[in-house]
Amino acid sequence: MSTTLITGGTVVSSTGRVLADVLVDGETIRAVLEPGSTLLGHDLTGSVDRVIDATGRYVIPGGIDAHTHMQLPFGGTFASDTFETGTRAAAWGGTTTIVDFAVQKTGERLQDGLAAWHELAAGECAVDYGFHQIVGGVDDDSLRAMRGLVDEGISSFKLFMAYPGVFYSDDAQILKAMQVSAETGLMTMMHAENGPAIDVIAEQLVAQGRQGPYFHGIARAWQMEEEATHRAIMLANYAGAPLYVVHVSAKQAVQQLAWARDQGQQVFGETCPQYLYLSLEEQLGATSAEWGELEGAKWVCSTPLRSREEGHQDHMWQALRTNDIQMVSTDHCPFCMKDQKELGRGDFRAIPNGIGSIEHRMDLMYQGVVTGRITLERWVELTSTTPARMFGMHGRKGVIQPGADADIVLYDPNGHTSIGLEKTHHMNMDHSAWEGYEIDGHVDTVMARGKVIVDDGAYLGAKGDGRFVKRGLSQYLA
Ligand code: URP
Ligand code: ZN
Ligand code: ZN
Ligand code: ZN
Repeated sequence: MSTTLITGGTVVSSTGRVLADVLVDGETIRAVLEPGSTLLGHDLTGSVDRVIDATGRYVIPGGIDAHTHMQLPFGGTFASDTFETGTRAAAWGGTTTIVDFAVQKTGERLQDGLAAWHELAAGECAVDYGFHQIVGGVDDDSLRAMRGLVDEGISSFKLFMAYPGVFYSDDAQILKAMQVSAETGLMTMMHAENGPAIDVIAEQLVAQGRQGPYFHGIARAWQMEEEATHRAIMLANYAGAPLYVVHVSAKQAVQQLAWARDQGQQVFGETCPQYLYLSLEEQLGATSAEWGELEGAKWVCSTPLRSREEGHQDHMWQALRTNDIQMVSTDHCPFCMKDQKELGRGDFRAIPNGIGSIEHRMDLMYQGVVTGRITLERWVELTSTTPARMFGMHGRKGVIQPGADADIVLYDPNGHTSIGLEKTHHMNMDHSAWEGYEIDGHVDTVMARGKVIVDDGAYLGAKGDGRFVKRGLSQYLA
C-alpha cells in the first residue's frame, strides 16, 4: 500500500473551498489537513511514498457520470464505446465513476440483461462502475426480479414512456413498477416523452417529405416531454415512489418538476451538457460539405436538443442554480456517423439516438463556472456530490474526506482545453459533438482509488482498474 500527499491545492466541496493537504493511504483518503501539517512532529512530505504538488489547482472529488450507455443496442446497432474505451475516455475527462444502464429489452428477461451487462463490464473498466437497471418489459417476472435488485447493489431502475416496441412501458406497467419502487426504496428513473404520440407526429412529418435530422427535434416536441413528465409525476405521487427524470431538456418539463417539488414530492431532475449548450437550430439543422443535411444526425438524441429561440438552454442553466434540476450527467451514447448515424439517411426515425460526451462533462460544466452561470461549489455538487448521494454512494464517492475512496482530480483553472476529435478525444467515435469548444480550465491529474491514472497528458491506468460498485439506496431521500 503506498501513501501520497497532495499538497498546496484548494480542496473544493459542494459547500466550500479550503487550502488543504490531502493524505491518501492505499485506495482511501486518510486525512484532509491544514497545509504543511506535521504528524507527531514529523514532516509528512518526508514520510509518504509520493508528494503531488497541487499549488494553484483545485482538488475535487472525481466526477460521477450517473447516466451512460456503453454498447447500448439501439436501432439495429450498438453504441460505439465499449466499457474499455468509454471508461478510459471518462478518466481522461476527470470522471472516476460511471453508472451505466443494464438493459432488459421488451420480450427479454431482466435477470439475463443484468448478467449480460456484468459480463460486458467485468475486467474492462478504467474507472469504477455501477449499474441502473433498464426495465423494458414490466411483467410479474420482472417485478419479482426488481425486488432483488437492491441486494445486488442496484438501487435504481429506468422506465421508458418513449420507444414503443423496444423499451416502452404503458401507464399500467409504470404504475406497477412504481409500486415496487415505493415498497423497496428503489429509485424510479424515467425517460419522459410521450412515445406513441411522437411516433404519429414523426410518421406525418416523413409523409410530408420532412425527413432530415432537424425534424427529429420537431417530432419530439416539448409538449410531448411536458405531458410525459407530468404523467410520471402524478403516477409517482399516487404510488408514493421517488422519481428521477433523466435527460430533461424542455423548460416546460423543468416547470413540472419545480411544481412537484414545491408540493413536497420527492421528484428530481437531471440534465446534460447538450441541453445547456446546443440547440435545434444550430446543431440538428446543421449541414456540412461532408455529410450534407445528415450532419445534424451527430446531435440526434432523445429528448432532443431544443430551440434556442424558445429559451430552453438559458432556463436549464437557471434551473441548475435554483436546484430545480439537481444533477448533470452525459447520457453518453455515442454512435459513429459512418455505418451508424448513416442508417438514418433519408429518414430521421432510423438515426440511432445518442451523443458522446463522457470525456467532456467536467470541462463543459467548469466553463459554466468561468462564465458565471454556476459557482465552483455547485460545479462539484452537480457533477459528483449529488450523483453520489442520489444513487447511494455518498461517503465513499463524491467527497474528499477521511474514509472516502481516493478518487481525486487536480483541475487547473489556469489551464486550457480545446475540445475536438483531433485534440481531447478518446471516445470511440469518428466525430465530436463538441468540436471547437474551448474550456478555460484543464484536467491535469486523475487519481482513482489511490492510483494516478491520468497525469500531465499521459494515461497511466489499465483496463480492470475499475471495479463494480455495489450501491445502497438513495441518500437523497428523506
Ligand atoms: O438519445 C438517447 N438519449 N439515447 C440513449 C437512450 C436513452 O433514452 O437514454
Ligand atoms: Zn432515455
Ligand atoms: Zn440514456
Ligand atoms: Zn495544467
